[in-house]
Amino acid sequence: MFKAEPLVPYAKDYSTCIKEAKERIGNAPIKKTLEDISAYEVIYIMSPIYWGTYAPELETAIKDLDFSGKTIRVITTHEGSGLGSVVSDVKRLCKGANVLDDALAIRGSDVYSSKSKIENWI
Ligand SMILES: Cc1cc2nc3c(=O)[nH]c(=O)nc-3n(C[C@H](O)[C@H](O)[C@H](O)COP(=O)(O)O)c2cc1C
Repeated sequence: MFKAEPLVPYAKDYSTCIKEAKERIGNAPIKKTLEDISAYEVIYIMSPIYWGTYAPELETAIKDLDFSGKTIRVITTHEGSGLGSVVSDVKRLCKGANVLDDALAIRGSDVYSSKSKIENWI
């Protein structure tokens, strides 16, 4: 599993964090990059919903990868937006991939009671 970690951690204070996430859209440096996904056929992309889509760090991690011929499944956590625009945004970014429309959205507060739901979805 690859984790796209922000180079500079987000503020602990929620309202500052929200502001930071908006500022990072399109420019979100990460600690480590992912360079080669050639060994994988099916790739699961997981992200909290930030501002209606994936976290900006996720875009940094995947935007330059070659997804040709890969199958992508998307899972998110959210607080009301559900999937937001994440599936269409992943389709736009990951050219050549087959991004499945069966994406799963779990409310953040339901995560710990959603193990079987996630297992069934996988
Ligand atoms: C910067 C930021 C932006 C967010 N934007 C949204 C949003 O647009 N829609 C939504 O449903 N939840 C939004 N959230 C809530 C997160 O999706 C939620 O915190 C995350 O999925 C994890 O859930 P948890 O905080 O209960 O662990 C946002 C949270 C943060 C920190």
